[in-house]
Amino acid sequence: MRKLWGGAFAEDTNSLVNRFGQSIHTDLNFWQEDLIGSVAHARMLGAVGIITPEESETLIRGLEQIHEDGPESLPHDVEDIHTAIEVKLSEIVGEVAGKLHTARSRNDQVATDTRLYLHNELVEVFDLIKKLQTLLLAKGGEYKGALMPGWTHQQRAQPITLGFHLMAHFWALQRHGWRAERLFELANYSPLGSAALAGTSFPIDREMTSQELGFLGPIPNALDATSDRSYILDSLHLCAALMIDLSRISQELVLWSGREFGFVSLADSVTTGSSIMPQKRNPDMAELIRGRTGRVIANWVTNATTMKALPLGYNRDTQDDKPPLFDSMGKVKDSIQLIHLMLESAVWNLEHMSTSVHGDFSTATDLADFLATTGIPFRQAHELVGSVVRGCIERGWVLEDLDAARLNEIAPDVPVAALEVLSPAASIQRRESLGAPGPLAMEKQLTHAQWILECEGFPKIA
Ligand code: ARG
Repeated sequence: MRKLWGGAFAEDTNSLVNRFGQSIHTDLNFWQEDLIGSVAHARMLGAVGIITPEESETLIRGLEQIHEDGPESLPHDVEDIHTAIEVKLSEIVGEVAGKLHTARSRNDQVATDTRLYLHNELVEVFDLIKKLQTLLLAKGGEYKGALMPGWTHQQRAQPITLGFHLMAHFWALQRHGWRAERLFELANYSPLGSAALAGTSFPIDREMTSQELGFLGPIPNALDATSDRSYILDSLHLCAALMIDLSRISQELVLWSGREFGFVSLADSVTTGSSIMPQKRNPDMAELIRGRTGRVIANWVTNATTMKALPLGYNRDTQDDKPPLFDSMGKVKDSIQLIHLMLESAVWNLEHMSTSVHGDFSTATDLADFLATTGIPFRQAHELVGSVVRGCIERGWVLEDLDAARLNEIAPDVPVAALEVLSPAASIQRRESLGAPGPLAMEKQLTHAQWILECEGFPKIA
């Protein structure tokens, strides 16, 4: 195996040591970031006179050549991506390649690569979140009047609309976008030039490389810069929190597409069949998102466990912090897109959703509210409606079965005008408090969401 070290070693490394220590295969995920970091470093070395301008140009041209040749051109009989690129560079430009690593260590290099990778991934995540929010807003508007049950404790609670429900997911995504933007800023500082742990005696310009790479500035302490992995933990938390919400959408799609609910049909393009049961249409993508959320949560735990009590200074333990990051980021990006595809092509059984609200006593609160408006304290109204519900259940009626005579039979104290508030559709019409599903309140929410979407990035919601 080709190495960047070995001068002090008389014997060959054991082959198991080579294999156990290798990260080249997963490092390929950020081969471009490693190249870009090296180009900035080579340019800076030339600019401050540590190497000649010609040497700097030769190195940059060689690095650009590697970029053109692509990752397939890189050697695999090496420990990591940094070695692969340096080996390849020396094949292209010769001995001068050995000057690239002046005033740099793989310790600041890998930290720089990871932060650049994160930067690029987050830009993609921002875009995917915005796209899904755009879809949710469109569907939220389309189905703002489509009645459906609302649950608490998974028990029928109060009628809502499908548009209102979908918009709840819009706001959850807004929080994730906002969180991702904060993370982007937090992680956007440059470790490059910190070298192994204690900086360098060369007159480097860390401001220059930081600026060229799009960072906000260099990290002030070289030991911190090479030891910190909190931005990876933050990213893994972001991924876990996002996946948790996507798993909740997935669970709804799994439940609602089953016969018991029958609320939604998922398109052929996003479902799968069974090898034995010809009638099956399985929501596998939603199930996989739900399931893989477990691994994304575990990725945070994996890295937190690695970092706990780890002494400052580079430790090889942290070589393994990247596969969980690559894994979580990849899963999040795929999952957002799959949720998008499923929701975009979903066919909602609006008629069935709407009729399923009838007979579930979910307008009982409306009845209590009505009584409270007649001057009865709400607590007393609640009791009274409780007796109405009990009276109905004992007689095998639902609230919508009540007429003046029946109401009088089970609750003579309740005025007949109360019957008007028992229809689920009427219930929605009256729910006009801020954030409620009533037509005016919903219109305001949709306008607010539209404004949010048109803003640059993910603004505060109020
Ligand atoms: N491949 C290593 C990592 O991912 C790079 C740093 C190695 N440094 C060292 N001294 N062995 O962490």
